[in-house]
Amino acid sequence: MNAKEIRELFPILNQEVNGHPLVYLDSGATSQKPIQVIEAVQKYYHYDNSNVHRGVHTLGTRATDGYEGAREKVRKFIQAKSTEEIIFTRGTTTSINTVAASYAKANLSEGDEIVISYMEHHSNIIPWQQVAKETGATLKYLPLQEDGTIALSDVSATITDQTKIVSVTLVSNVLGVINPIKDIAKIAHQHGAIMVVDAAQGAPHLKIDVQDLDCDFLAFSGHKMCGPTGIGVLYGKKQLLENMEPVEFGGEMIDFVGLYESTWKELPWKFEGGTPIIAGAIGLGAAIDFLEEIGLDQIEAHEHKLAAYALERLSEVEGMKIFGPKTAANRAGIVTFNLDDVHPHDVATVLDAEGIAIRAGHHCAQPLMKWLKQSATARASFYLYNTEEDIDKLTAGLIKTKEYFSDVF
Ligand SMILES: Cc1ncc(COP(=O)(O)O)c(C=O)c1O
Repeated sequence: MNAKEIRELFPILNQEVNGHPLVYLDSGATSQKPIQVIEAVQKYYHYDNSNVHRGVHTLGTRATDGYEGAREKVRKFIQAKSTEEIIFTRGTTTSINTVAASYAKANLSEGDEIVISYMEHHSNIIPWQQVAKETGATLKYLPLQEDGTIALSDVSATITDQTKIVSVTLVSNVLGVINPIKDIAKIAHQHGAIMVVDAAQGAPHLKIDVQDLDCDFLAFSGHKMCGPTGIGVLYGKKQLLENMEPVEFGGEMIDFVGLYESTWKELPWKFEGGTPIIAGAIGLGAAIDFLEEIGLDQIEAHEHKLAAYALERLSEVEGMKIFGPKTAANRAGIVTFNLDDVHPHDVATVLDAEGIAIRAGHHCAQPLMKWLKQSATARASFYLYNTEEDIDKLTAGLIKTKEYFSDVF
């Protein structure tokens, strides 16, 4: 299937916005959903809706089978050893917060270090700031090279025997950089630290094998990979999860409840207090089926091609400044830029009038904005349904934006 055929499977893309066919270049924020995912969620509510793990009735069995079946799909998708290692959460933010609130607070104390990088999303910064405040641990940052990439020599120089947690994004949501997680994990382990991976921008676009990466925890969100909002995943190595306390307490996660003491269910359910996100998990399972049918290798290659094409076409626009690596090597389908001194919100507004949706702002990465010496940037992010034609329209829209603002000032 080519991108044009794939596009046909996304009903939302078949519409006009402000009198123009929609060009959706904001998949980094959230992806659109194919008909297969929409129908899977609809089918669940239409025919199977029931609570899981409780009822002995037929609908309860169907809902439980759908929910637990989705867990197995996730396990296979990231090559985890067992479904005990797959915890359903609300998304990447909740997943990282779970590691911070449970593992980190129990295992860190004064003198310990947490290492993250300058390119992290706020969701992979603030939980660690909170851990540092509460435990007395020190938060350290991996520096970036001039092009925004991380050098392994800097990783080796920053991680010490005091480092207990290293948490880095697989793909930067601003620079599009793909980080050498496997190598960083190796260095972290040499110092006895655990490796946490923010795969929010990685899981939708790259084949992930948690055993090959040898990461200890990995977090991602369903909504960025063709799935519904409100569902995400925390992968954790079984021996770590087994020794961690739950973060949420209540129904579904207990084994026995006494008046003053209770015990927890086994993995993964001890981390899933309350009625879970059943429809979300089923929708995520359908999204994984969809992505695997097309092939993650094909998706990655397509986005890589689009990134290379976008770097080439956008460079033709006068006054264009593109952030991050100058070439598409080790880059996912994300291109962040600024156009002379036109504010990125103005750029996004003019493009919107042309039916082109991009993102403008700090992209939940204020420390990185500071490093880039920008208060905000514009970002175009691509997915399997985008085409070179979309990038041509973006380029034309940017030329129009530039002309518009030179006429005004
Ligand atoms: C790199 C990265 N990490 C974390 C997140 C947070 O994801 P969510 O809002 O789905 O929890 C995002 C979302 O944009 C992201 O791009």
